[in-house]
Amino acid sequence: GLTRNFSSSTSLNAIKTVTIVGGGLMGSGIAQVAAQAGQNVTIIDINSDLLGKAQKSIQTNLTRVGKKLYKGDEAKINSFVQESFERIKVSTKLEDGADVDLIVEAIVEKLDVKQELFNKLDQISPAHTIFATNTSCISVNAIGSGIKRKDKYGGLHFFNPVPVMRLLEVIKCDSTSEETYQAMMEWGKSVGKTCITCKDTPGFVVNRLLGPYSAEAIRMLERGDASAEDIDIAMKLGAGYPMGPLELADFTGLDTKTFVLSNMFEKTGNPVFKPIPLLDKLVSEGKFGRKSGEGFYKYD
Ligand code: CAA
Ligand code: NAD
Repeated sequence: GLTRNFSSSTSLNAIKTVTIVGGGLMGSGIAQVAAQAGQNVTIIDINSDLLGKAQKSIQTNLTRVGKKLYKGDEAKINSFVQESFERIKVSTKLEDGADVDLIVEAIVEKLDVKQELFNKLDQISPAHTIFATNTSCISVNAIGSGIKRKDKYGGLHFFNPVPVMRLLEVIKCDSTSEETYQAMMEWGKSVGKTCITCKDTPGFVVNRLLGPYSAEAIRMLERGDASAEDIDIAMKLGAGYPMGPLELADFTGLDTKTFVLSNMFEKTGNPVFKPIPLLDKLVSEGKFGRKSGEGFYKYD
């Protein structure tokens, strides 16, 4: 449960300061769980409006967590929210987040943009800083191909909503040192997650299995086999999933979903990951799901 967020680490090499680059859906959640665990956090985003949005959503979600932890005790809830929130700084300048123990990248799912970011960070961060990418399905190795500290680099793949989902996939590249791998596992535990280890393979475990399921659901809708509502009800009540596949795609973000599928298609050649005209159409219309107000469904 949520109390696991407070298990503190005793190792001398424990990660205590963290920077999250990209303050969107995932970055704001990652920042939140680190702050809840007592770490000092900096969020960097190129878009200052989104930094404000991130702070607002973190405050809301900290309150949800606080209410659950300190049922009805307003004073404790308020100090939990305030103290956690105060550990988070935000900035649009990468330099403000360079000197920390761990940097987690959670920016747009595009190889060249991620590479460029890590190459720059490699120059401005001290030698001890560990780098990790939260990529959904781009090769971790390819993202870090331009950096020198390859031994201090790997993948830390979180799930949405980060404060609630209990899993963290820790991706160990061939070049990731044992020390870095252990530090990443330990950090994952310190922010309340159960860690599994996976090779740098397309989609890791969860997306490799969720991708075909999600793609086929979108194709069912496209073919008119069933309505969006009925597809979602079917999987919730017939298979016990907490959300239906189309609801979940809106929740993940249809832009991210598209990047995931196209990367998986490129890497695996499996036709199940081929582009889906209905999905491409929604994305081209700016309908990215919940975060933009419309996707397969409309949101207020
Ligand atoms: N922060 C803090 N708490 C949150 C939260 C957030 N962002 N979102 C929800 N919660 C809490 C709520 O407060 C609520 O707590 P209580 O049970 O104590 O009341 C609890 O979580 C459940 O929330 P709701 O009642 O609002 O709604 P729900 O029961 O439908 O649960 C859900 C919401 C947890 C998101 C659930 O629907 C779910 O698990 N959905 C599937 C999510 C999923 O599969 N994510 C993985 C996507 S794949 C991915 O992320 C990888 C990738 O690379 C694309
Ligand atoms: P998002 O669009 O919500 O957020 C991305 C943020 O990065 C935006 O705020 C954007 O302004 C910022 N950004 C873009 N380029 C930047 C740069 N060069 N420097 C600084 N900030 C920059 O996206 P998201 O859903 O949070 O996804 C982020 C990453 O996490 C992606 O790699 C995605 O594949 C991965 N991921 C997403 C999910 C999910 O369910 N959405 C789950 C796990 C992993």
